[in-house]
Amino acid sequence: CGIVAYVGYREACPIIIKGLKRLEYRGYDSAGIALLNGNLNVYKKKGKVSELENFISDKNTHSHIGMGHTRWATHGEPNDVNAHPHYSSSKKIAIIHNGIIENYGSLKQHLINKGYEFHSDTDSEVFINLIEDIRENSNISLAEAVRLALHEVVGAYAIVVISHDSPNQLIAARKGSPLVIGVGKDEFFLASDATPIIEYTNEVVYLNDYELAVIRDGKLDIRTREDVSQTPYIQKLELELESIEKGGYPHFMLKEIFEQPRSILDSMRGRLVAENSHLVMASVIEFENKFKNADRILIVACGTSWHAGLVAEYLIEEFARVPVEVEYASEFRYRNPIIKEGDIVIAISQSGETADTLAAIELAKSKGAMIFGVCNVVGSSIARATDAGAYTHAGPEIGVASTKAFTAQVTVLTLLAMMIAEKRGTIETSTLRQLMLEMEQIPTKVEKALQLDTEIKVISEIFKDAANFLYLGRGFNFPVALEGALKLKEISYIHAEGYPAAEMKHGPIALIDANMPVVVIATKDSSYEKIVSNIQEVKARKGRIIAIVTEGDAVIPDMAEFVIEVPDTHEALTPLLSVIPLQLLSYHIAVMRGCNVDQPRNLAKSVTVE
Ligand code: G6P
Repeated sequence: CGIVAYVGYREACPIIIKGLKRLEYRGYDSAGIALLNGNLNVYKKKGKVSELENFISDKNTHSHIGMGHTRWATHGEPNDVNAHPHYSSSKKIAIIHNGIIENYGSLKQHLINKGYEFHSDTDSEVFINLIEDIRENSNISLAEAVRLALHEVVGAYAIVVISHDSPNQLIAARKGSPLVIGVGKDEFFLASDATPIIEYTNEVVYLNDYELAVIRDGKLDIRTREDVSQTPYIQKLELELESIEKGGYPHFMLKEIFEQPRSILDSMRGRLVAENSHLVMASVIEFENKFKNADRILIVACGTSWHAGLVAEYLIEEFARVPVEVEYASEFRYRNPIIKEGDIVIAISQSGETADTLAAIELAKSKGAMIFGVCNVVGSSIARATDAGAYTHAGPEIGVASTKAFTAQVTVLTLLAMMIAEKRGTIETSTLRQLMLEMEQIPTKVEKALQLDTEIKVISEIFKDAANFLYLGRGFNFPVALEGALKLKEISYIHAEGYPAAEMKHGPIALIDANMPVVVIATKDSSYEKIVSNIQEVKARKGRIIAIVTEGDAVIPDMAEFVIEVPDTHEALTPLLSVIPLQLLSYHIAVMRGCNVDQPRNLAKSVTVE
C-alpha cells in the first residue's frame, strides 16, 4: 500500500491525490483520503486513485491537513468499506495503515467484548479502535495512546493518525513498512517513498522501526516506542531520488518499459469501453464541429513524440480521411508555414515543456488554428497553452529515452483518430467496433510481448558490438522503425538509421554487408508480401536480419537469422506491439555496453531551449 499525508499552508487534497498517484505502483485496489476542516471527513473508493479523484470532485475538500492511502488488499476484499482511511468507532480519529497486524483477531475480540463495532474486515480498523480504547480509558494525549498501542500490536505497520480534536497534528509510526517525512518550510509531508514529496522539498527524515513521529503546530517530534526522544536526522534527497523510485528495477527505463500494459490501460481508461461501443474523449466532443469540418490537421512535436505523430498521420488519414501533415516543431516555427483558420494543430509532448513545440503552438494560435494537446505532464506549459487536449496518463517518465510515454501517445492518438472518424462518418460501424475490441486487448498483448525479454537479451549479446544498425518498416510500422533506431542511438551510442523498407534501395542498401544488423518490422499486414521482398533484398547482400513478425509466421523464419514474434492484432494497432521488442533490444544493448541508460550523455528529458 502507499500512504501520503500533509500538513501545512497549502491545500492538502491535491498534494495527497497527486502523491497517491505516484505511489500507485504500490497497489491500486482502492484509494481513500481523510481531510480535516472543522469536521473529519473520509472519502474512499474501490479502484484507482483517479476514481477517488472523480468521487471527490464535487465535494468540499478545502483543507490544510489530511492523509490518503492507495491499497493493495491484505485483510478483506478490495471494496469501498475496506478502503482506508478507517475511522474509530467515535469517528473522531482516523488511520491509514500499510502492513499487517498479525494479532488483530485477539485484539478485535477484546474490543468487541467491550462493545466496539466494526464495519470493515481490516486489521487497520482494529488498530484505530485499539488506540481509541486506550485513550478513553486513561485520559492521555492521542500521541501517547498511539505510542502505547504500538506495544500491543504484533506485525508490520506504517501508520498515520489524525484527529478531529487536533486540527494541526499528524501522528505517524513505523515498524517494517517504510515511512518518509518531508520537511518543508512551515509544512510537512509523510509518504511511503519520496516520490510524492520530492517536488516540494528535498529534506527528508526516514523514520526508523519502532519510532513515532508527532507533527504538531509546525514542529516535528520523534520518539521511540519507549518514549525516548530522538533528534531527527535530516537527509538531502538528491542522490537517493533515483533509487527510491525504481521500484526494484535496475533502471527507470526498464521499469517504464514493463509498466506499459498499465500505462496503456490508463490512457484508455474512461475513454474506451468496447463492450458498449463507448468511445469518449471530452475535448473532441466539446470541439466536435471543428473536428467535423477541419480541412487539414497539422501535427507538431519533437523526438519520440514526433514519431508518435507520424503514427497518428497514418491512423487519422486511414480512418478519418482528413489530410495530415507531421512537422518537426523546430522546422515548422521558422518556415512561415501556411496555417488557416479551419486547421487543427495537434501538439504532442511528453513533458509539455519542449520549447520548440511550445513556440510552434503560439505561432499556430496566432494564425487562428485550434490547438489540441496530447501531453503527459498534467498542468504543463503546453497543456495550458492548448485550446483542448487529452492527457496520456502514462505516469511520470524518468528515463530520458521515452518508452511508455510513446505507447501512451500512440494509444491516445489511436482513440482520437477513431473518434474523429466516428464524428465525420468515415468509418464503418463494424470496423470501428472491431478496432475497439482489439484496442481493449492491447495491454494483455503488450504483457505477452514483454515476455520476449530473455530472448531479446540473447540477441542483444550477439549484436552489442555492432557499429551500425538499420531499422526498416512500412506503413504503420515505418514510424516504429524510426523510433527503434532513435532508441538505440540515444542510449547505446550505436549509429542507427530508420528507413521505409522500400526506400532502402535508394541509398542505405549500399551500407549492407555481412556485418550490418538489419531490424525489419514484418508483421502480417497489408504490406507483408512487400516487406518479405525487402527482406530478400537485404539477405541477398548478406545483411544480418532480425525480424519482428506476427506469431505463427511460417515464411520469415526461413529467411531471417533471428525472428521475434509479437501477438497478432489489427494492422493499425501493430505499432503498440512491435515497438516493445525494439525498446528491449536497445535497453539490453546499452546495458551490455556499460552505458548510462537512464541518463544518456548529452540528452535531456525535457528540452526547454530551442
Ligand atoms: C527530448 C527527450 C525525448 C523526447 C523529446 C520531446 O529530446 O529526450 O525523449 O522525445 O525531447 O520531448 P517531449 O517532452 O516534448 O515529448
